[in-house]
Order: sequence, then structure tokens, then C-alpha cells
Amino acid sequence: MSTLPHIPGTDPSRCIFDSFRAAIARQVADALPPLTPEQVYTGVDYGKKGEDFTIAIPRFRLPGKPDDLGRKVVENFKPDEWVESVRQEKAFLHFTCRTPALFERVLTQIHDLTKKSPTGQPEYGRNDSGKGKKVVIEYSSPNIAKNFHVGHLRSTIIGSYLTNLYRANGWEVISMNYLGDWGTQFGLIATGFQKYGNEERLREDAIKHLFEVYVKVNADAENDPKVKEEAAAWFKRMEDGDESALKNWRVWRELSIKKYEEEYARLNVHFDVYTGESEVKPEYQTLAFQKLEEKGLLAEVDGAKLIDLEKYKLGKAVVRKRDGTSIYLTRDIAGAMQRYEKYQFDKMIYVIASAQDLHTAQFFKALELLDLPWANRLEHVNFGLVHGMSTRKGTVVFLEQIIKEAQSVMHEQMKKNEAKYAAVEDPETVAQETAITGIKIQDMSAKRIGNYTFSWDRMTSFEGDTGPYLQYAHVRLSSIERKNPDLLPLPSPSDIDCTLLTEPHAREIAFLLGSYPDVVKTAIKNHEPSTVVTFCFKLSHAISSAWDVVIVKGEQDKAKAQARLWLYLTARDVLGAALRLLSIKPLERM
Ligand code: ARG
Repeated sequence: MSTLPHIPGTDPSRCIFDSFRAAIARQVADALPPLTPEQVYTGVDYGKKGEDFTIAIPRFRLPGKPDDLGRKVVENFKPDEWVESVRQEKAFLHFTCRTPALFERVLTQIHDLTKKSPTGQPEYGRNDSGKGKKVVIEYSSPNIAKNFHVGHLRSTIIGSYLTNLYRANGWEVISMNYLGDWGTQFGLIATGFQKYGNEERLREDAIKHLFEVYVKVNADAENDPKVKEEAAAWFKRMEDGDESALKNWRVWRELSIKKYEEEYARLNVHFDVYTGESEVKPEYQTLAFQKLEEKGLLAEVDGAKLIDLEKYKLGKAVVRKRDGTSIYLTRDIAGAMQRYEKYQFDKMIYVIASAQDLHTAQFFKALELLDLPWANRLEHVNFGLVHGMSTRKGTVVFLEQIIKEAQSVMHEQMKKNEAKYAAVEDPETVAQETAITGIKIQDMSAKRIGNYTFSWDRMTSFEGDTGPYLQYAHVRLSSIERKNPDLLPLPSPSDIDCTLLTEPHAREIAFLLGSYPDVVKTAIKNHEPSTVVTFCFKLSHAISSAWDVVIVKGEQDKAKAQARLWLYLTARDVLGAALRLLSIKPLERM
């Protein structure tokens, strides 16, 4: 046994595939000097269709024909404890990992890292690549007193995934909810509250009541310009810090946050910081404004100040209104400055619908033009529209409605199978979790930027690539332990005989499990949740095709049954980890 070359940037203690790849790199470097293992390593890719790892020889730009170079590698190849064989196909080399080593190394690593974790949740899949770096992730950001629309829901789903993902990659993450809690509409609501407000209703459900008031006073304002004037005057007093104008608003804000927190908790979403447009300090806005002026970026039109970004094909935008009150765009410019001062982030991500692409590009550009050295640390993670998410009672207005409706649709679906339903211990919770999983998976299955049409049928289906299907896969893996008490406790990993795992179905599962740390690493590059969703489906499919072939119950050879059980239990841990990364709570029973 010789030691493998260490490849910088890899960590075999967390990703055993790093070792398999290093072994391949060593073989190729030995055959093709002056290539170094490090150079080869960068060219070791996952293989297609049943191949473990593949190298495309031309990428090394060596003198000589790829065919001849490949032949040299094949002739030089010495099977070792990691790699069993190599096969040449024109300019490609396909490597096969040694099967018992694959099982043993992968399963042991998952086992060890899971056991080590203080939370009892698998550490497997995590890495240290972001160590020492800090990211602020702003997402969800609904507007108090207005509706929580599907765009906010998507931002919530994608943002909480990104939060988990950055943490899994070793970053320090500050998750932030930037509430729409400021602006003329609060003057409007304050005006309306005098007429339509009800303290009791407010305490019951602040979000709903403020929305009701908003709708009513908005209708008034349409018919009566005086209402608008009054509202603008009220907001001006708020901006001037007039405590009498702010008093109610403070209560509304606090009650709304409480209610949001409850609903987010049901979605398994948590924020480190609740902030909002109201918390962008006037000093920063003045500073931003002055700097823009100094740079000659502003023009005055009808008493309002505009920033001209035509040169960058980003149009013109108001940064200060005629009455001097602030504006969404200015608050974003100043807000970023304020956040940088506070957090000194290495990166800040805004998860906002693509409907606001222009707005986001405008304030990013403004910050860049102000020569702020950190302006290039901002990133906009955008996403497309969702059509058709309405409940049986009509359009969705509140997050609560979405969750309730999803739960009840799921519950009805479950009741259709009477026998199964009777066996469910806590159908309410199962229905809620499965429904939420359905919504999240439907949302994260495709590329972010695409629009999609929401379907309750698809969301609740246990067939096809759906959330309920993934929960079902996890439940089935969880039940296998309960159903085979005679095989427990399992021997320690070194006493489990992995050579008894001979079925290609089992091998496919182990290979997927081994790839999970790479999935976590890659997923951070494109910010696409579908990367992880696809992994979950691949793994679940592989498991479901293995069930009838790689059996546990009914297998006479106990050692074999135990090896198989071990495989399924590690698969459960990894599927669970991947679901948690997607902010989904894996179910043990349903
Ligand atoms: N509250 C805004 C809305 O609902 C979204 C805020 C997005 N974040 C930002 N920094 N502009 O449209």
C-alpha cells in the first residue's frame, strides 16, 4: 500500500472520491511524464453511463496523438487498492473503482462522519472550502400589509436552500429578511387605520388585518385625491421621525414579524436578522445621495432627482422624490453600504424575482459608480414567475393560505388510500410536511430562471419526480431498520463484509453516495437548487430499483443481509442530508 499523492484543495477525510481520483491521477501521471498528479487530477471527471471516472486525454495538450498516449496509460496500468481497471475508447480513458474498496470506503466514511456529528445529523457532504468567509443572504423580504405572493415564496424557498448550502460549504452565513416596512403605503395605512382599524383583529392576525385596511383605504384613495395627500403627509412625518406618526407603525411591524416567524417555522425557514427598509439609516441615504451628486450622476427633473444610467442601458431612475422623501432604490443603495459597514461580508446575495432585474442592476451599478471596492461582491440570484398558484377560494394572498391549502389537498389525497391512511399515526403532520415538500420540490426541480405553472396534482402525487415520492423513499429506508430487528445491532464497519455486496444495483447506490460531497461543492457554483434535487431523485430511483434485487428481509445469509442493511441505512442518512439541505424535514413514517 503506497500513500496517495496529496492534491491541494482536496479533502479525502470528507470526500473519499478525492482519494479515488488521486489514485487515477497517479496512474496517469506515472505513464505520461512530465504530467503531475495535480495536473491530471483536474481532468478526472465523472464518467457517463456506467463508467466511474473518465479522462479526456486531449485536455492535457501533450505532444503526440491522444490514441497513443491513451495506449501508454493502459499498458502502464497497475491495478491497485483503489482502481481496478482502465479501458480506452479513442481519446477517452474510463477507470473503474475497485468494488469492495468503493463500498467499504464510502460507507465507512458516511458512518464515521454521521457518528461524529454533535447534532446526530450527518456531517457527511460538508466541506471547509468557505472557511473564514462571510456571506449575507437576503431573501423572502415580503411587504408588510401587502400580500405575500408566490414571488416571495420562491425567494423564501431558494434563499433558505442557499443559506444551508453556504453553511455546508463552510461559510459563515447571515440570513436576512429585508421587510418592505417603509414607504408611502404606510402613510396610507395609518390614514386608513383611523377609519377601518380594529385593535382586536390586529392582535389576532396582524398580517391579515393590515392587508384588509390597506385594501379599503387604497380604494378610497383611488376616488379621493385628498386621501393620497393625507397619506403622503403622514409618511413625511414618519420620515422626519415624528414619534406620534410612528407609534402605531411600530406595533404593526412587531406583530407582523411575529406572525411571519410562525409561518416561516412551518416551512422550516429561519432568519438570523429581520431588518427592513425602515432600518436603512437616513445618514447613509444622505451619504449615498451626496456621493452620487459629487460624481455628477444626478439630474433634476421637476424637483425630483434622477440617476442617469442610460449609458449602461439601465435607463433613468428617481433617487429622491420632490418632497424629499426616500425611495426603494435609494434605500437599496444606502442599505448595501450600511450592511457592508456592519458585516464586512465577502459576498452578499440578493434572492429577488427576475421581475426586479432592472432595479437590482440599477442599484448594483450605482454602487459600482461610487467606486465602492466591495461592489463586485454583490450577487443577484433571480428566478422566474410561477403561474396558477391559487386556492379553491381564489387567489393566494397570504403565506398561511398556501400552507393550509397544500396541507388539506395532501390530506384528501392520503385519505383516498383507506388502508394506508388508517396506519398513519399523525396524519395532520404528515400531510403538512409532505405538502410542503411537494411545493418545495416542484419549485426547485427546474432551473431557477424558468417560469412554471404550479399544479396541485403534481405536488401531491407519489408518482413521478415529486416531493411526496422523495419523502416516501426516505420513509421506506427508515422502516427497514424497524422491520429487521434480528439484524441489529450491526457489527462495526470493519467487521461488515463488503465483498458480499455484489449486485450492480447496490454498487450504483454506493457510487451515488460517494458523489454527494461533490454535489454540495458543485451546487454552490451555479446556485441552482435543481442540482441537489436531481441528486435526490437519482439516488431514490437507484434505491427503488434495488429493493427487489438487493433484499434484506428474507436473505438467509445473515452477514449478507447485514451488509445490505448497512448500505440502505447509509443511503437513508445521505438522502436525509440532501433533503435537509433543501430545507425539507425528512419523514421517518407516513
Ligand atoms: N420587498 C420587496 C418586494 O416585495 C423585495 C425586496 C427585495 N430586496 C431588496 N433588497 N430590494 O418587492
